[in-house]
Amino acid sequence: MQVYLFGGHVTSWKNELGEELLFLSSKNTFKPPKAIRGGIPICFPQFGNTGSLEQHGFARNRFWSVDPDPPPFPSNTSSRAFVDLILGHSEEDAKIWPHRYECRLRVALGPGGDLMLTSRIRNTNTDGKSFTFTFAYHTYFFVTDISEVRVEGLETLDYLDNLKNRERFTEQGDAITFESEVDKVYLSTPTKIAILDHERKRTFVLRKDGLPDAVVWNPWDKKAKAMSDFGDDEYKYMLCVEAACVEKPITLKPGEEWRGRLEISAVPSSYCSGQ
Ligand code: BG6
Repeated sequence: MQVYLFGGHVTSWKNELGEELLFLSSKNTFKPPKAIRGGIPICFPQFGNTGSLEQHGFARNRFWSVDPDPPPFPSNTSSRAFVDLILGHSEEDAKIWPHRYECRLRVALGPGGDLMLTSRIRNTNTDGKSFTFTFAYHTYFFVTDISEVRVEGLETLDYLDNLKNRERFTEQGDAITFESEVDKVYLSTPTKIAILDHERKRTFVLRKDGLPDAVVWNPWDKKAKAMSDFGDDEYKYMLCVEAACVEKPITLKPGEEWRGRLEISAVPSSYCSGQ
């Protein structure tokens, strides 16, 4: 696993065979002002572009610091390795988002190699003011061929379609498959979502907590060509399924804390059927 302080950004997660599981664009510069394209950008304090901040908020464009003295794991959790990162108030950001806060991210590897992300966001305002935010783990999964990928767990749910002015629709039919650009925010999703990569016979299983929504995004060919930090053909090898809290923003009073969690396993497909 590899984590950049720039963005508090997980850029690599491998299985026991050394195979990369996250997509990372070959066009990255890994430098501000462009957030890293791929891996797991953290969208905070705003998901998308519907608020007053830059698209997906500023956290993915800031340098986080490592907590040298992290709190211990709860006794019922086993982890092989972890790092705690912190992003906090700065005078510069206060001009665009006038709040004091502490945003913590724990990135951990579970015993089976699972990737576990836990975020804690605390309102540390001293002026008595609440703040409101939206959030996403903008995870880019590496897939062998997007047209052979299926997503299970979102069928029959309501979603907002970003390609149709965020209009609300209901998903019909079976598992979700991909044959053109998609940019949807699925609402009130189950805690478990699966991404099946048939070519590689691998299934990513996402388990989430505190993150009711799930964004599904693939830019497809035209948009891929228009993005300077993304290869023309790279859309074939990635799919974003983002555990998120978008529809109902979170409000914290001073002293209050929010916690969100995402656990991802990558398992051979046969292990997954019937689970
Ligand atoms: C997705 C959004 O989460 O991120 C899309 O739903 C957006 O609308 C995509 O295009 C990429 O965003 P960005 O800012 O990283 O180019």
